[in-house]
Amino acid sequence: MNAAVRAVVRTAIHRGAEVFAIFEGYQGMIDGGNGIRPFGWDDVGSILARGGTVIGTFRSTEFRTREGRLKATRNLIERGIDRLVVIGGDGSLTGLDTLRQEWPGLLDELVANGDITAELAAQHANLIIAGLVGSIDNDLVGVDSTIGSDTALHRIMDAIDALSSTAASHQRSFVLEVMGRHCGYLALAAAIAGGCDYVLIPENPPAEGWEDDMCQILRTARARGRRDSIVVVAEGATDRAGNPIRSEYVRQVIEDHLHEATRTTILGHVQRGGTPSAYDRWASTWLGYEAVKELLNPSVPGEAKVIGMLGNDVVRLPLAGAVQATQRVPDLIASGDYIGAMDARGPSFNE
Ligand code: F6P
Repeated sequence: MNAAVRAVVRTAIHRGAEVFAIFEGYQGMIDGGNGIRPFGWDDVGSILARGGTVIGTFRSTEFRTREGRLKATRNLIERGIDRLVVIGGDGSLTGLDTLRQEWPGLLDELVANGDITAELAAQHANLIIAGLVGSIDNDLVGVDSTIGSDTALHRIMDAIDALSSTAASHQRSFVLEVMGRHCGYLALAAAIAGGCDYVLIPENPPAEGWEDDMCQILRTARARGRRDSIVVVAEGATDRAGNPIRSEYVRQVIEDHLHEATRTTILGHVQRGGTPSAYDRWASTWLGYEAVKELLNPSVPGEAKVIGMLGNDVVRLPLAGAVQATQRVPDLIASGDYIGAMDARGPSFNE
């Protein structure tokens, strides 16, 4: 995210805008004060190689209320802020679109309360926004990658390589659980890139009897001389009835069927930190640059955009449509028609 923050700040300054950074996400917007600070060129120096975000992040429940958004609007308008880039997941982006839609009404309320002048409200009548998707899960429908997902994949690959060597030495099986909430991207990409033996992801719940199938695959590979076996489990993996498939359960199944020592590694938040990959820094810089262009010259005036990478290029998608399509995915998976629905969704969504 830091590469995106840096690109937003420097592109905006280069194009003559005054820039503020909002600390601790929407909570900083609501709290005002030191939560919203003028940001200069040097404030974003030396942050490209740092993981996380130097301006902090926060899951604000207050911003979900209209009262919270009214406070946020007052703090923004008092500083003359009427253009926002938000980097976040689908919750943050939905909140951003809500703020944009409510903005004229919120301004009216502030004027009626005597908090701001009608003149100030008139000068900032519309909120112009651009969303960037910051999520290691790579879970936004309509884009190829989200900010941080490539770095998380590198963290997982390091873990797989490390596990492979110890697994091979002992001829052991390992079960690796990776993050991704409802999305199996990290698990699937890591399993393929790491040459793993079996993968369980939410998008493709296995049929009944999958335990036997998995163990047969591991057994056959061992009989052919493979010394290390790795099964990757996405944290959101379920069976067809929607019951979670936990890594500990998978470990027990392997141990019971194959009668060999099996270990579990739950990677956890290691995946969310550390030095960002070159791809993430490069793509996020491009995305931050495009986000500022969108704010200064909206591609479709009055329409909120989320900006992402698709086919090695930058695309601007309708924010509400992209978020809604993403939020429908768990239901589509539960309905058993995820693949069919995605095929049908692709062309019409891109149109
Ligand atoms: O959405 C990003 C993510 O890292 C998911 O992969 C994971 O399920 C979740 O956040 C963990 O959230 P928390 O840090 O609140 O435990």
